[in-house]
Amino acid sequence: MRDLREFIDAIEGHGQLERITGAKEELEIGGISKIARRDGLETALLFEEIPNTRPGARILTNAGETPLHVTLSLGHEPTSDIREALLAQKAHIAKTETRAVETVTDGPVLDNVQRGSDIDLTEFAAPIWHTNDGGPYIGTGDVVVTESADGEDRNAGTYRVQVHGPKKATLNIRPGRDGDRHRQSYFDRDESFPAVISLGHQPDLFMAANQRFPAHVDELEFVSAQRDQPLEVVEGEESGLPFPARSELVIEGHVRPDAEEITEGPFGEWTGYYGAGETQQRPFEIDRIYHRDDPIVLAYNNVPMASTAMTTIRSGAQLWDQLEKAGITGIDEVTTIFPGIWFQIVSIEQQYPGHSTQVGMQAMSLPAGVWEGRITIIVDEDVDAFDLDEVLWATVSRFDPAEDLQVIENCVSSRINPRMSPEQTESGDHTKSRMLIDATKPYHWKDEFPADTRIDSDLETRLREEYADLFAE
Ligand SMILES: Cc1cc2nc3c(=O)[nH]c(=O)nc-3n(C[C@H](O)[C@H](O)[C@H](O)COP(=O)(O)O)c2cc1C
Repeated sequence: MRDLREFIDAIEGHGQLERITGAKEELEIGGISKIARRDGLETALLFEEIPNTRPGARILTNAGETPLHVTLSLGHEPTSDIREALLAQKAHIAKTETRAVETVTDGPVLDNVQRGSDIDLTEFAAPIWHTNDGGPYIGTGDVVVTESADGEDRNAGTYRVQVHGPKKATLNIRPGRDGDRHRQSYFDRDESFPAVISLGHQPDLFMAANQRFPAHVDELEFVSAQRDQPLEVVEGEESGLPFPARSELVIEGHVRPDAEEITEGPFGEWTGYYGAGETQQRPFEIDRIYHRDDPIVLAYNNVPMASTAMTTIRSGAQLWDQLEKAGITGIDEVTTIFPGIWFQIVSIEQQYPGHSTQVGMQAMSLPAGVWEGRITIIVDEDVDAFDLDEVLWATVSRFDPAEDLQVIENCVSSRINPRMSPEQTESGDHTKSRMLIDATKPYHWKDEFPADTRIDSDLETRLREEYADLFAE
């Protein structure tokens, strides 16, 4: 699947697309998308005929919310089962291969090019997503391509983009990102930092861009390998940076090291809060806009309390892979629930005293698990890690707070953590504590732990078959 239109056709073919006309950028597109997620609607939403945008401008929200969207996008066997989808992604991620992109000289994204006084970013769909947002955001599901000043290292990341005027935006690259390193490499030479920002593309590219890979991995090349087909890219007229030839809408521009700073944000973060507030940033000045006819912006608006399939599948698969590669035996299953901030669940087949603690400590410190998560729960392999009811049952029955709770202080965090005190935010002490809940049966007397009353699986299978009418979904 090469582009966003092919993805939209595929989900529409599975009955997972709704078209909505006339909704406004200001709070309506964001509000409708949020209510749909909270109501558990599985369809993606394609907003068309948006007032005050250029004719044909469109925006897609709520894509990537179901296992079906994610497996279709990633080219795995389509499934509605989250465990199957996560396992398919885990098998894939284990390889992390790359393949060269193919540079071409033409593609649909070049059908329309805005230069000079024609440039107008405000024509395209840029919602105000949440009531207290500081302005319209066009880049929420974007892919930002940057390079180091010496040309040695290329990266694609997702960094949000706020619209400030026809030729002015902000590109919110936070410290520590590959994009931040690239920006600094230009500023160190007192040169402008160039970037190209794709705003509509097959979601597999977006998922790769915001996944944490080692710094040397070029996400464009990762996607080429994942698709088993080189990603076709064209080069920006000003920067020479590559972007997908089948992208919907791309902005090319630069950040000057001496530019006067403007206010970015606040923006309703994925945590469900306005954690980071406003910051002062140098603007992203736009040199070109490239777009297809009737361009579709791909948006990603995280909704607190509505765990998205994309996050669970991608983060769970990566954490599982990294735990296995760390050489720990006895890992049964791994998942991450995402009610706004990650929540890790690992089931294990206990192998030695202290095994459960070792797994928990690794889960919270490996690259795939180190960031904003706070709670890690370890359960035995007889508990279904993907069934929250079972995990809670194991927690209330096998976990003793005095013996089985560990709190680890001084862990990695960031300004967007809503629980960070104003003093900590101010001082730069961006750390937090984490909690390990060991809900496994105590190792040294696990064989004497009372038997449980769950139904025997053979009996369940037989009864389900015999009483199929009663148990039909
Ligand atoms: C929807 C979404 C929005 C994001 N917005 C930002 C952002 O505005 N700034 C930022 O620095 N990281 C943001 N991230 C996180 C980065 O995309 C992520 O950490 C990525 O791995 C960074 O890539 P890099 O290390 O290659 O730069 C966002 C992630 C997602 C899923």
